[in-house]
Parts: sequence; C-alpha cells; structure tokens
Amino acid sequence: MSTASGKATAVAHSNIALVKYWGKRNEALILPWQSSLSVTLAPLEVKTTVAFGAQQDEVHINGKEAKGNERARVIALADVLRKEMPVLGPVCVHSGGNFPASAGLASSAAAFAALALALRSAAGLARDVEATSLLARLGSGSACRSVQGGICVWSRGEREDGADSFARQHFAPQHWPGLRMVAVILSGEEKAVKSRDGMRSAVETSPYYSAWVKSAEEDIERALQAIGACDLEQLGALAERNAWRMHATSFAAKPPLSYMRPSTLAMLLALEEERQKGTPVWFTLDAGPNPVLLTEEAHLPKVLAFADRFSPLDIVVCHPGGDARLLESHLF
Ligand code: DP6
Repeated sequence: MSTASGKATAVAHSNIALVKYWGKRNEALILPWQSSLSVTLAPLEVKTTVAFGAQQDEVHINGKEAKGNERARVIALADVLRKEMPVLGPVCVHSGGNFPASAGLASSAAAFAALALALRSAAGLARDVEATSLLARLGSGSACRSVQGGICVWSRGEREDGADSFARQHFAPQHWPGLRMVAVILSGEEKAVKSRDGMRSAVETSPYYSAWVKSAEEDIERALQAIGACDLEQLGALAERNAWRMHATSFAAKPPLSYMRPSTLAMLLALEEERQKGTPVWFTLDAGPNPVLLTEEAHLPKVLAFADRFSPLDIVVCHPGGDARLLESHLF
C-alpha cells in the first residue's frame, strides 16, 4: 500500500545467474531470446526511496546526484507508470547499496528491483509480484529475477508485448540454506564493454549464438532438477558449462570480446585441480573478470583458502536471500 504522501521505500537483493541471460530479441522491451535462472545474493542489497509530487525529477545514487544514462534509466521506469497515471507528477528517487567499495559486483539487478517495488507502492498500486517483475525487467533484464528471493526463473515468454516475460520463484531460500556463492574480486577496473553492448554484439555477430539459445533453454530444467535434489556437483558442473558457453558466444563475436582477464582464467583453470583434491567448488562468471564460486557452507574454509591464492582485492561470501520488500523508514 502507498502512504498518503505517495512515498515508499523498498529493498532488494542482487542475484547471480547460474543459467545466464545473454541476448535480447527486443531491445526496447528487454525481452530475452532464452530463459535464465538465478539465486538471490544476501547480504548484498540496494535500498530505494521514491516520492511522487516533487518539485522536479531528481535522482540520487549513493549520495550523489545521478546524471546522463544512469538518471535516464531511472526516470524511464517512473515514466512507465506516469504514462498510465499522469497525476503522479515529478518524482524524487534516492538509492544506495551496501556493495563493497571494490565493486565489480553488478548492483543494477538489486537497484531496479527495489526501484520497481518502491515506484509501484508510491503510486498506490497493490502488491503484485508478477507486475513488479515485469516493471523491473524494463529497467534491467536481470532485475526481474530479484523481486523474489531464493531461486528464480525468468521465462523468456512468447508474446511480442512482453506480458509473459517475467521471473517467478521456484525454490524459497530455506530450500538450500547452506548454498554459498563466493564472489572473488580479482579486478576493480570498470569493464570496457557493458553487458548490454556485449550481448548485442553476440546476438548480431556470433555464429555460435543460436546454439547458445538452444543449450541455455535446455539447461533450465536440468538446473531445477539439481537444485530440487540439492545436488551441488550436478548444479556446479551445469553452471560452469553454461558460463563457458555464454562467454564462448562473445569470444566468437566480431570483434571478439573477452570479459576474462589473465587472473580470471588462472583461477578457472585451477578449479579443476582443486576439485581433484576433494574440494566441492565450481564457478560462474558474469560479464566481467570476477568469478563467483559455488559451494556449501561446510567447505568454506577450503574454498576461501583457494581463493586467497589469487590475491583478490576482496572476497564476499553470499547466501540465498529473501524477497524484495517494503520498509517503513525512508532514505529522505
Ligand atoms: C551476464 O540485466 O545487466 O549478468 O537487460 O541490458 O540491463 P540489461 O542487462 P543485464 O545483463 C545481465 C547479464 C549477465 C547474465 C545474467 O545476469 O543473467
């Protein structure tokens, strides 16, 4: 429910895809070619307060006034609601995350999920998980998987207007509380090619792209089975293979694109040896140089010792997080 002032605050966790989203069939509506599957990452979160009825549109992110594209993407999401409800008027948005300063961890999924939930509530719209996921998707595709906690699947959908392309929870965080996602920050450099541009290039120029779409879609069912059985070995092997295949589409693009740095590859190749020594650990890798290691709580000491060998800037241990939710206290 909205408050009388048209103000609301929401918080959402980030997520990491184990079956990646890589490529859009509709750029404007952010509709993917294939379905994807992710796990929400606690304790990483973004908190956002939205107030309609401001003097003029204003966006502040992590204490600074947002400009350019960053601001435009936030305002564009508010515009989706204002198109239907012009009475809402100018909007003031303040947003902040608890992501480690070394960064390298995508915060846009958490940010747009929190923004979508806060916008809808401030506009007086009833709580609706599906509608919130649809709105979050228009901000950033992966954000539609951060509206609910645990394991979520973003179904690609078939409709041209995107009304059936949203994410749904398949397993609550309590299903596998011991699952751990260990983000290893090997490089704090800003990536040269953003996911949005990297995936467009793969769609348009990679000869492997159609094979990727087919194999990723098939991975969803297998991943759900492995998660249903809490089978780390099955899930880990599948997540690794899916990440290699996503990156392979970009290696084969024109011009070729590698998000891996030499330190990334060194770590990925060493994982096989570490598993042979008996440590149950696998990786996934988004559009950047920093691997996220999959393991279980009991194996953390060994996995952290392994990660330390690569002199990371930071290591962030995450567990499955809960739903995006509204808060009583506002940021302004
Ligand atoms: C590699 O959701 O950031 O992290 O929809 O263009 O905003 P846009 O892209 P974004 O891409 C995420 C790509 C990925 C894989 C994933 O999260 O599924």
